[in-house]
Amino acid sequence: MSQPFRPYERLVEITILGKRFQVPEKNSVLRCLQYISPETIPYGRFCWNQECQYCRIMAQLPDDDQPREMLSCKFLVMAGMSITELSPELKWCLNAKLRR
Ligand code: FES
Repeated sequence: MSQPFRPYERLVEITILGKRFQVPEKNSVLRCLQYISPETIPYGRFCWNQECQYCRIMAQLPDDDQPREMLSCKFLVMAGMSITELSPELKWCLNAKLRR
């Protein structure tokens, strides 16, 4: 089976709707969400190719004053980023992880 993640040496911390998670650096945000929820993200309706728009998020980077909209399949994760809004598809996929 091929490894879905790009090579990484360490995990970085991000926040999703106020909850903290450790995810692999050097990977797209959507890959990181897959790392958090491997049992749901691969089965979502994601194109992984910047076309479907189902992966939209609002996220604030450490140096930003306010959240900005981005495609999580395109944007590389950044230590300290805070995801403040998830698309309905992502919300559904991450529901169990965010409730814990
Ligand atoms: S997964 Fe389709 S646009 Fe990001």
